[in-house]
Amino acid sequence: MSMKDMTTISVIKADVGSLAGHHVVHPKQLEVARERLERARRDELLVDFHVTHCGDDLQLIMSHRMGENNTKIHELAWATFTEVTEKVSRPLKLYAAGQDLLAEAFSGNVRGMGPGAAELEFQERASDPIVILLADKTSPGAWNLPLYKIFADPFNTAGLVIDPVLHNGFSFDVLDTHTGLSVRLRCPEELYDLLALIGDHNRYVISKVFRKDGLPSAAASTARLSMIAGRYVGKDDPVCIVRAQSGLPAVGEVLEPFAFPHLVPGWMRGSHHGPLMPVSVSESQNKCTRFDGPPRVVALGFQVSNARLVGPSDLFADPAFDTARTKASEIAYYMRAHGPFIPHRLGPEEMEYTTLPSVLEKLKDRFQKAE
Ligand code: F6R
Ligand code: MG
Ligand code: MG
Repeated sequence: MSMKDMTTISVIKADVGSLAGHHVVHPKQLEVARERLERARRDELLVDFHVTHCGDDLQLIMSHRMGENNTKIHELAWATFTEVTEKVSRPLKLYAAGQDLLAEAFSGNVRGMGPGAAELEFQERASDPIVILLADKTSPGAWNLPLYKIFADPFNTAGLVIDPVLHNGFSFDVLDTHTGLSVRLRCPEELYDLLALIGDHNRYVISKVFRKDGLPSAAASTARLSMIAGRYVGKDDPVCIVRAQSGLPAVGEVLEPFAFPHLVPGWMRGSHHGPLMPVSVSESQNKCTRFDGPPRVVALGFQVSNARLVGPSDLFADPAFDTARTKASEIAYYMRAHGPFIPHRLGPEEMEYTTLPSVLEKLKDRFQKAE
């Protein structure tokens, strides 16, 4: 198959500084990023692009013919984040300017350097709808529950029962973020094994989903910033690409899990569990202000047409998701009432990467043998 037959969607994101603390990008950052990607489109590196944000994360949604993990595409993303940092974040003294650019200089692939990336290469079907999911104030494990529901749960995805093409099920690539090893599990037959792993979303994260016949169906970013830096540097704020319809879950089945605002790690100081609230990409909803949150997810729908991105449609801008937002807000009140107590605050293993250990260090010598 020639390169021209294949389309790649690359969603690469970074927090390179934001307005008034950690809650939203500055419009000038979006403008500079658009200018940079427009140059790349004119140079025919990209076929198309869409620049947007989820809270304080700058999101580059790019389509091209270069395949996954392509150095030129990753270099373009890195150069864009650097340019936005130098031209906007630093001169305006935006908060945490250049935060996610953890490496001194680009070296081949943004993975491991701070920015998050989800990439999916595929041969376009006659019509190819995709949903791009963008989250703020949480980590990659936040996609485990929705991806499980979308591709393995017949109570969510009616197509798994009704549509013969989906009926055979899907395979999940699960990454062990502690060892860097990955395992492929086939569902429905290995469903319980899958849940045994991904129920622990701090350690195991779904990176890819394929239909049983090999059709690439979803890709998620897996970067854990704290593991790259060895310290707390803001949450990973993951992204995910899901293909839909015609032998894949319908767009409505892709969005359905988000009607349940499940608890995810992140929120204030990356140290608290909170509900994932589905929001419109619009200014009124797409910023994390209450206790720097609660965590948010935006969904954008595109048609991919000869590698062009037609759209987007702002998918959670639907009154049918108002109840989920209200519920998320109620859960936020409930969780907040616990203050610094677990399970609002994350457990000790996750808190290792925050500033808490240096506080505890102070008390170390004051412990004496108990009577
Ligand atoms: C969460 C996040 C914020 C900050 C918080 C403290 O991902 O980025 O909640 O952790 O605002 O930030 P500093 O320590 O920079 O004042
Ligand atoms: Mg931030
Ligand atoms: Mg963020």
